[in-house]
Amino acid sequence: MTSRLFQPLTLPAADGVGLRLRNRAFVAPMCQYSVDAEDGVPTDWHLVHLGSFATGGFGLVVTEATAVEARGRISPRDVGLHDDAQQAAHARIVEFVHSQGAAAGVQLAHAGGKASTYPSLPGMPVATVPVAERGWSTVSAADGPVLPPLDPATALDEPGITAVVEAFADSARRADEAGYDVVQIHAAHGYLLHQFLSPLTNTRTDGYGGDERGRTRLVHEVVAAVRKVWPAHKPLGIRISGTDWVPGGWDVAASARLVRALADEHGVSWVDVSSGGLGHGATIPVGPGYQVPLAAHLTDALTGTDVVVSAVGLIDHATQAETILATGQAHAVSVGRAALRNPHWATQAAADLGVPAADRPYAPQYWRAGW
Ligand code: FNR
Repeated sequence: MTSRLFQPLTLPAADGVGLRLRNRAFVAPMCQYSVDAEDGVPTDWHLVHLGSFATGGFGLVVTEATAVEARGRISPRDVGLHDDAQQAAHARIVEFVHSQGAAAGVQLAHAGGKASTYPSLPGMPVATVPVAERGWSTVSAADGPVLPPLDPATALDEPGITAVVEAFADSARRADEAGYDVVQIHAAHGYLLHQFLSPLTNTRTDGYGGDERGRTRLVHEVVAAVRKVWPAHKPLGIRISGTDWVPGGWDVAASARLVRALADEHGVSWVDVSSGGLGHGATIPVGPGYQVPLAAHLTDALTGTDVVVSAVGLIDHATQAETILATGQAHAVSVGRAALRNPHWATQAAADLGVPAADRPYAPQYWRAGW
């Protein structure tokens, strides 16, 4: 039996060729809150962290949420990609990831009203970091706290929106120069773009709010601006929350309409389907593969497009991933915490799924591991 997970996959691109990945196991973006990260510059930690996933056999390694401007960081030690020092540090990581046969993706992000928070580390409060402690004031779709108890954000005005769009495009240009193969625009988990998408947080009455067309306008503008600077031979992806898990919130039908429009109008060719992030009493059925039905809905709804759909969320085991792909629920899987526990998750999965030894992805230095 041939493993689906270890069948190569092409992420389509506007040049008609696209990016060939050695397999369908992706690393999900994961903030490191690394204490050594100053001014958004990735460090040796990020090199070893991301590099180990490349030596560990993954087809695509995606960075943590990487801020397009300093106030877009979730927390003060997040990395960014809006200046030369950051770009140079990213380039070093990309070079190593490539040397191990993996592709490198960058998740471009703006945290909006969920910026300037304490890192998600043991003992840290869920709260906004005060300006006196190197925090900063935040922006969002509307005035007020995006998620209590965070401090109130200020609604972006139109020049502010234009600046955000330009920041995404500028970071995408830098991502290309740093050598990244794929950009993933972060429109999930209650961060800025999701704050605009969701009726829970977007109460604007101008052209960036109101109906679905208004609420999706910023995402369209960001994607269009990134597309202009992102080379035609490189795929462009997006991460969405497939649902807010709240009645009257953003939902999977709206997600499918959005991704189809982004594919048709701007050539978006990859969607990673996560969920939640805006609170509002969401009831989330957390359990193994709990977001896979959302990916399956999108896979189905996007039939006839060339969009690659990846599923994510408690996909911990090789056979589980294989089943998701074999049953057509998604084209790829993104693995988060299981990859932290075992950076060689993908190599181990290849062994578990019976991929012939010669075809298993691993670094030659590790041949004695018995893979
Ligand atoms: C995350 N997650 C996340 N998501 C995202 O879009 N950008 C990010 O920077 C982060 N940061 C982050 C840090 C850490 C430590 C964890 C554990 C998670 C969410 C992550 O990408 C993934 O969607 C979830 O962890 C669910 O997948 P797993 O971990 O169950 O495979």
